[in-house]
Amino acid sequence: MSVVALVPAAGRGERLGAAVPKALVELDGEPLLVHAVRGLWASGCVQHVVVAAPPTQCDVVTAALSSLGAAVTVVPGGAERTESVWLALQAALAAVPDTEVVLVHDAARAFTPPAMIRSVVDAVRAGAPAVIPVLPLADTVKQVDAEGRVLATVDRASLRAVQTPQGFERGVLVRAHRAAAAAALGATDDAGLVERLGEPVLTVPGHTDAMKITTPFDLAVATALLTHRGL
Ligand code: C5P
Repeated sequence: MSVVALVPAAGRGERLGAAVPKALVELDGEPLLVHAVRGLWASGCVQHVVVAAPPTQCDVVTAALSSLGAAVTVVPGGAERTESVWLALQAALAAVPDTEVVLVHDAARAFTPPAMIRSVVDAVRAGAPAVIPVLPLADTVKQVDAEGRVLATVDRASLRAVQTPQGFERGVLVRAHRAAAAAALGATDDAGLVERLGEPVLTVPGHTDAMKITTPFDLAVATALLTHRGL
């Protein structure tokens, strides 16, 4: 009964402003994707990783991951994130037919603590169909209109910032993606697709080290984290 991890990494990552796709941007001499897959493997609870790569960069991605000693399959990603995950999911189920738990993890979360990854898997194994790591918000949050005028102050206490890996019981994720494909719907995360099925989504504590590296500022913060914490 295996755990597989899907890593959608086929985006261009324009907000980082780099010449290469974001997953291949280097931090401490290695692509973000390599750091992320190393963390998944270090959790000790993942049997196979499937990466959705930029279609023209599959060879580069395969070579970058080859030194990790992890069981990795690289597939060409799709036009949207949701499509990349669906393509990776199909490849994962073909490669590992006894898959029971599926993780979906951002390549940009280079330093996700292995203990957090295990906590997501444990919660799915304990019976939750979908599990997401979350953090409380430090900032006050306002809802605004198209002109930037404030419409409302949202109660911060009831809001959470969502991280990855998100964990799913295999059948639930397959149903969620089939429904999304049929309705031509996308989502910024996979739990959002599961919510549309009416299935419960459980939260577990996230970790600040699992920050998503999106902008040059984030890259600088992650580099500082690496230096100061010896990550
Ligand atoms: O744009 P955003 O940072 O939300 O993208 C989330 C993840 O989805 C990134 O790791 C990106 O590489 C991936 N992605 C993908 N296929 C696409 C677009 C984005 O795998 N077509």
